[in-house]
Amino acid sequence: MISRRRLLATAAALPLALSAGAACARPTTRTATGATRALPIPPLAAGALGADGVRRFTLTAQTGNSEIKPGISTPTWGYNGSMLGPTLRARRGETVEVHVRNTLPEATSVHWHGMHVPAASDGGPHQMIAPGGEWTPLWRIEQPAATLWYHPHPHGVTEAHVYRGLAGLFVLDDDTSATLGLPGDYGRDDIPLVIQDRRFTADGHLDETLPSSYGLLGDTLIVNGATAAHHQLPGRRARLRLLNGSSSRVLNLGFADNREFALIATDGGLLSGPVPLRRIQLSPGERADIVVDLAAAENLTLRAFPVDLRAGIDRPERFGFDDTFEVLTLRAATTADPAPALSAVLTVIEPLAATLPVTRTFDLKWFKINGAGMDMNRIDLTIPTGATEVWQVRNLEDWPHNFHVHDVQFQIRSIDATPPPAALSGWKDTVYTEPSRTYELAMRFTGPADPAHPYMYHCHLLHHEDKGMMGQFLILDPGQQPTFTPTPMADMHDMPQMGDMPGMGSGPHGH
Ligand code: C2O
Ligand code: CU
Ligand code: CU
Repeated sequence: MISRRRLLATAAALPLALSAGAACARPTTRTATGATRALPIPPLAAGALGADGVRRFTLTAQTGNSEIKPGISTPTWGYNGSMLGPTLRARRGETVEVHVRNTLPEATSVHWHGMHVPAASDGGPHQMIAPGGEWTPLWRIEQPAATLWYHPHPHGVTEAHVYRGLAGLFVLDDDTSATLGLPGDYGRDDIPLVIQDRRFTADGHLDETLPSSYGLLGDTLIVNGATAAHHQLPGRRARLRLLNGSSSRVLNLGFADNREFALIATDGGLLSGPVPLRRIQLSPGERADIVVDLAAAENLTLRAFPVDLRAGIDRPERFGFDDTFEVLTLRAATTADPAPALSAVLTVIEPLAATLPVTRTFDLKWFKINGAGMDMNRIDLTIPTGATEVWQVRNLEDWPHNFHVHDVQFQIRSIDATPPPAALSGWKDTVYTEPSRTYELAMRFTGPADPAHPYMYHCHLLHHEDKGMMGQFLILDPGQQPTFTPTPMADMHDMPQMGDMPGMGSGPHGH
């Protein structure tokens, strides 16, 4: 492995001129598959706006076969198709209803990641949909324009369900997002990119065995369900809506020539202004919207570079942090004019809880949070409706973790008592927690209260989540008592997990 990695590093250092033009010139890719294909674009879901003002979507979870690698048919799961799902799109102020049908051989759920949503419609592990069953959540969109996503959340098997292909984007618009002159032609210059890693067995199936007790790390990077893709732009500017949909892999994305791009939005919406960057790091579940400009007729490769943030991590190669992948090649139009300057102001973000003391502390260690593993029958926290809280999250070991909270978007108030970098200054619902660092997250729980249905907070490295690195909270009105009772479907602790097989070392620590 080491020597192969060195070889790749050497190849990566070749001047661009050497690789340009040659059909076989993909020196750094670990997914070398020959000719590239046009990037598949998840279709926009045909949501119909009813006379009652409700926008209705239908999602059917189903099995199928997908050509992830060219010429190879791989059994996969998807929504309304064989892999991934359509992009749902709605405006702030609209009410949406999603009719979810499960035609899979297993129970699953659909969670709206990043969405402010009533707890009963959240789609967490208590809202399971049995095989053949249906579920119809409904809620009003009351948050800014953002790139959110949806995925299964069945307790103990989320990693497997996402890995088999279940994931999709949920794009929110608002009155101001369309007035900023940003690329907005979906699938042409406003491009959704669901980036994931996979491994394949010799017969072309998805390999579900865990290479380590850290979780699933693939050796093949796929974008929108396909390897080695290219995309032809109508002009010279692209907006990329990036989602790290991997189980465990942290992605450090940038362009092959190290050019600058503009970060315009993070998980929960636009930043106050564009942030110039050469790299954007995304841990599993995080999103970033970036804008990049190309020269006329230029080919530009998006690449996943070795991951930088590894303070305190022993042997980073164990976590795939040394790997390099080619993600996608963009091709600019031949005749297009340069794009105009981006608006310097994108939105206004009022700082939340600047001086509030820490409300609660969450210590991440040994696949547990505050020493406890996930218990579907235990409510870990109750939060008063309307509360603004500061959550202090500490990664107390040399393993990578991240931290995700349902229902809210938070602001990172500090990292080790220092203000966050500009790239982390906007709305977030998932944050990478570097080993041995302390993160303070400010968030407001506007409700509605629901004494019966909990929300989750957890590590979004899916194997860690499945292993129990998760807790539950209720939002309660003053004086309200919990009425939560676990549903029968909640009794799923004993379902087999990926990695629970002989010799797979499923204990928390292999080090
Ligand atoms: Cu993206 Cu609780 O999940
Ligand atoms: Cu979520
Ligand atoms: Cu973790």
